[in-house]
Amino acid sequence: MPEQSYIYAKEVKPSEVTVKLRGWVYRIRKMKDKIFVILRDASGLVQCIGSEDKMKPEAWNALNETAIENAIHVEGIPKEDARAINNVEIHLRNFKLIHKGEIFPIAKDKSKEFILDNTHLFLRSYQSTNIWKVKANVLRGAREWFFENGFYETTPPILTGSACEGGATLFKLKYFGETAYLSQSVQLYLEALIYSLEKVYAVTPSFRAEKMRTKRHINEFWHIEGEEAFVDFEGNMKIQEELVEYIVHFVLENNRKELLEMERDISILESVKTPFKKITYKEAIDTLNENGFNLKWDDDIKTEEERKLSEIIGEAFFVTMYPSHHKPFYVKINEDDPKWCYSADLMAPEGFGELITGGQREDVLDTLVRRIKEEGWETKDYEWYIDLRKYGSVYHSGFGLGAERLTWWICGLDAIQETLPFPRTRNRIYP
Ligand code: 4AD
Ligand code: MG
Repeated sequence: MPEQSYIYAKEVKPSEVTVKLRGWVYRIRKMKDKIFVILRDASGLVQCIGSEDKMKPEAWNALNETAIENAIHVEGIPKEDARAINNVEIHLRNFKLIHKGEIFPIAKDKSKEFILDNTHLFLRSYQSTNIWKVKANVLRGAREWFFENGFYETTPPILTGSACEGGATLFKLKYFGETAYLSQSVQLYLEALIYSLEKVYAVTPSFRAEKMRTKRHINEFWHIEGEEAFVDFEGNMKIQEELVEYIVHFVLENNRKELLEMERDISILESVKTPFKKITYKEAIDTLNENGFNLKWDDDIKTEEERKLSEIIGEAFFVTMYPSHHKPFYVKINEDDPKWCYSADLMAPEGFGELITGGQREDVLDTLVRRIKEEGWETKDYEWYIDLRKYGSVYHSGFGLGAERLTWWICGLDAIQETLPFPRTRNRIYP
């Protein structure tokens, strides 16, 4: 007879036949002649009960030796039990320790610093595992939407000589005698690729040497960026809102259990529906001033202001048409009123702030060159980019969505750092 294969915890149903599982010890409670053990695997948890009189001595002894996070193999008969997780409990017939190892160091009373030093162990916790599952579907949902809508996935470089988002957050490195940077955004390269594929996207790590420690900034994040030929400012926002709507509902469909276990209020996610509201930067400033702020027309909309706006608006929304000097050289300037540019930020509700920045790209050659110089860059480092406006240039737009920002909001977590298994922050590169 072929050997019976392993099943997952979530597949266990009451039955007459023996099932076989493997995983790790989530909880264990030992009594004189009975031991309860909750097995954890990638799919979830299942309770098992071992009784001395129903098991061979070596299996019973192994079970007796077992502790939290030991790797285990269990065999038994699943029986209905209203007190157990999913109303099922496995009555053990056989039990093996795959690896006993040392006493697991993670426990409830440990400090935050201790947990951060042991991220490599903490990442297997039940709560973290739920976050990884949501994150996987944020990425998968994005890819599905792009695929369904005719975008090609591309592989632009991460090592670059042309900075995209301003010098203040650049990671510089030596590159065989030259200066290179870690990518902050692959946008400029995607702009080259539209002349081949028209609609492109990439999912890459982006790096920002953020000076401040905040709940919404990390130094390495996963960037979902799209770029589209023959799409204007409005068309670009339509793409962004449809993408975000799709991802949110894709996660709701596939991770409802995880979100509920995180105690996420999912009604706000369920109500995500296009078209999203839009207010201009100017209207945003006016609205804030009507609500007790005292902002001038070209002040930054900072965290506190963003939070207030998102409270007032109550759903995902775009802030559009920023002052030109707020935004990088590549953003298209309004030719009729150059004070304003075609850039928009998509804001999440509940104070989670910016999810996306996007906009139409500058396609007037002289304006682009002037703006590159104004930002203090050497045009020689951007010659290839400037070239794109010389050979069959077309109007085009694009955007960048932070995978961690979106996961953070969808899960309703305290800090964005929780959405990465190994978050890179200013004072920590270990583990
Ligand atoms: O707003 P940003 O800087 O825009 C760009 O990089 C454009 N070049 C994108 C494009 O048009 N292709 O970054 C885009 C998004 C932000 O809205 C945010 O979601 C995320 O990237 N992001 C960060 N996420 C976490 N930590 C940080 N330090 C982030 N910086 C940006
Ligand atoms: Mg931005």
